[in-house]
Amino acid sequence: MSASMQTRHRDLTLMAERLSCNPLAGWIAVGSVVFLLGGCSEGEAPPTPTTAAAPLAVDPDVARRRGLEPAAVARGADLYAAHCAECHGARAEGAPGWHKPGPDGKYPPPPLDGSAHAWHHPRAALRVTIQEGTARLGGNMPAWKGKLSDAEIEAVVDWMVARWPDEIHGAWREIEGKAARH
Ligand code: HEC
Repeated sequence: MSASMQTRHRDLTLMAERLSCNPLAGWIAVGSVVFLLGGCSEGEAPPTPTTAAAPLAVDPDVARRRGLEPAAVARGADLYAAHCAECHGARAEGAPGWHKPGPDGKYPPPPLDGSAHAWHHPRAALRVTIQEGTARLGGNMPAWKGKLSDAEIEAVVDWMVARWPDEIHGAWREIEGKAARH
């Protein structure tokens, strides 16, 4: 993927994060630039619709709207926290410097939050990456086959796509639709 495309993906996420910032901040901010900036500082976790203590939670209505079962999405969030967050980040934001190969020449864990590349892959490809890992391709992603059941892997994928910004999810659905027709 070209650098400009990556920048664009990054922009989309930043945009989505800004949109999800507390709208009240803007009101409190009238007349005070300091508050306006403070209302949505970079790196701050965007408020979630459920509880502040659950940065991985997905609004069940969003899940349903995307044709996903909220219970599976919630199970996927727990599985992600238990098995994937140590590498892909507490909020699936990826490891620092993920877009450049590390000292071993291999890519660090990328974001799974819609800001990187994962959404270019239809579900079947995401499933295979998680099942098989990338060691066979010279990468550092461990294989989960045998450690997670098929249903658990589907739940993690459900959770991942449920969390993507609308625009990214829409683009992924198109890719998914094309893959399904082949
Ligand atoms: C030990 C660290 C580690 C753990 C734990 C881990 N991953 Fe990864 N993952 C990676 C690395 C490194 C890559 C990049 C692989 C490459 O480039 O070969 C990756 C890549 C991926 C990709 C492909 C992303 C893309 O942009 O195409 C997906 C999807 C993924 N991981 C999902 C998961 C899920 C789901 C879990 C938990 C079940 C998980 N990973 C656990 C290290 C990890």
